[in-house]
Amino acid sequence: MHLLITGGAGFIGSHVVRHFVKRYPAYTITNLDSLTYAGNLGNLRDVEHLVNYRFVKGDITDQAFIDRLFLENRFDGVIHLAAESHVDRSIASPVEFVMTNVLGTVNLLNAARRVWDGCFEGKRFYHISTDEVYGSLGSEGIFTERTPYDPHSPYSASKAASDHFVRAWHDTYGLPVVISNCSNNYGPYQFPEKLIPLFINNIRLKKPLPVYGKGENVRDWLWVIDHASAIDVIFHKGKNGDTYNIGGHNEWKNIDLIGLLCDIMDRKLQREPGESSSLITHVADRAGHDLRYAIDSSKLQEELGWSPSIRFEEGLEKTVEWYLGNQDWLEQVTSGAYLDYYGKMYGSPSSGD
Ligand code: NAD
Ligand code: TYD
Repeated sequence: MHLLITGGAGFIGSHVVRHFVKRYPAYTITNLDSLTYAGNLGNLRDVEHLVNYRFVKGDITDQAFIDRLFLENRFDGVIHLAAESHVDRSIASPVEFVMTNVLGTVNLLNAARRVWDGCFEGKRFYHISTDEVYGSLGSEGIFTERTPYDPHSPYSASKAASDHFVRAWHDTYGLPVVISNCSNNYGPYQFPEKLIPLFINNIRLKKPLPVYGKGENVRDWLWVIDHASAIDVIFHKGKNGDTYNIGGHNEWKNIDLIGLLCDIMDRKLQREPGESSSLITHVADRAGHDLRYAIDSSKLQEELGWSPSIRFEEGLEKTVEWYLGNQDWLEQVTSGAYLDYYGKMYGSPSSGD
């Protein structure tokens, strides 16, 4: 099995690469990543020496390059994670999201179709998507695989479009595809622009914690390593043409999650109780901010036997420990361009001075 994993230097992709190279030594794993601000080969230091792993730097929007890569390698499977992934950046620069998330996905679909040329036995194209394609819930309800798409942000609209293209390649050309839509992930190696690592870093540096609006929005959080294990199960056992929701049945209002995180940080940093939460600053709400996501993953649990492995409180504590124990990583990824981004987003530099 020669498997192509796209976006393997990013947050979730690096956990997926680590999971597959270690668990399947007989597979050859090629990690294709263009190393944007979110891609970091430092996320894979512990596995990069393994003989079944190799890295290729390249951009999925470059059709000629992608065609060549597929012709030269004749992959048996693709797990496609490469994407622009941050909602706030999609509000500021939507076109990049169309290019990578939509055009990049179509380039991969085309290349797979060409190289597999109708011989689909043993082949699989697995597209990793998000629950955000389903839109926003009120206080009731849950997303199932049958919930109609209703994306609101440029990010979720681009992911929704890519999901439609993947289904179109299945229905039109018979490409053996599978899609999963997962809830918010958390854990080691997440770039500190997303809520949890951003707030861990800001607490560490005693910087304000910018809570959008009242902090009433609800997200359903999943330990990233559980996402990687779900991807393994779906890649190997999922049905062609099917969609699987992945989630932890773990809904948290932002402000409650932030309270828990502040308590953990006070304890770990031996600060006075309440010191971290005194950094909470309510700022203008995100435009088009989805109120609530909640995902029903019972199909995956019942049909393929997957379930999440750890409770959120435990996972969050491990996450904090990881960031505090890997401050070199944090400092490396928050230098340079990150400072410009942070200044534009939040109006002040992110460094401690
Ligand atoms: P990330 O931003 O951390 O990583 C994305 C990776 O893709 C980076 O390594 C980046 O360098 C690479 N990349 C970006 N543009 C590229 C291009 N044009 N060509 C090649 N590589 C490119 O993202 P993530 O949080 O790890 O998300 C991975 C996937 O999972 C995405 O498809 C995302 O939509 C999906 N997802 C994420 C979450 C979440 O909570 N983070 C939840 C559900 C689904
Ligand atoms: P985020 O981690 O960006 O994930 P997503 O928008 O894809 O769900 O944000 C999670 C929640 O936290 C979301 O409701 C927005 C909120 N949030 C803040 O309140 N402040 C911040 O600085 C960030 C980045 C997010």
